[in-house]
Amino acid sequence: MSNIFLIGFMGTGKSTIAEALKRKYDMQIVDMDAEIEKEQQMAISDIFATKGEEYFRDLETQLIKDLQKKDNVVVSCGGGAVLREENVDEMRKSGKVVLLNATPETILQRVKNSHNRPLLEGNKNVDFIRELMSKREDKYNRAADVTVSVDNRAVGEIADEVYSEVFK
Ligand code: S3P
Repeated sequence: MSNIFLIGFMGTGKSTIAEALKRKYDMQIVDMDAEIEKEQQMAISDIFATKGEEYFRDLETQLIKDLQKKDNVVVSCGGGAVLREENVDEMRKSGKVVLLNATPETILQRVKNSHNRPLLEGNKNVDFIRELMSKREDKYNRAADVTVSVDNRAVGEIADEVYSEVFK
């Protein structure tokens, strides 16, 4: 039970916090999006465009199942990884689920210059982000063992809080 699954909306800093946990606490890291891109040899946006979202979601489920074999790993989950309840059940079997929370304004600042999130392409505004966030809110909250706010906080401080909440 020593894995950490970082969940939360796109742009909440899951990959950045995972890197900090690796650096500070000597954990291994798995970045789900990066892992899927490597395995499929395709960018996430191309997988969505050519194979569709359902296909991508199946890859996420398979990857989460494969992670059961690992230990002392911090997993930076894709923002939609908790949309399927079975994924959350799998995460719980091997670790703690930590939700990173940010306001739509913070998210917009962080995603506005990137083009690797198909769901936000053409939708980079606070209203869209708030709406999608509120559709997912229940799932994020129900999945979380621990919730950590990230607005206006330093990466190291957030990583310390995640670690101490999980292993206290
Ligand atoms: C998604 C989030 C993305 C990526 C895909 C779908 C989502 O990951 O998995 O674009 O549905 O929220 P990040 O949260 O790492 O951006």
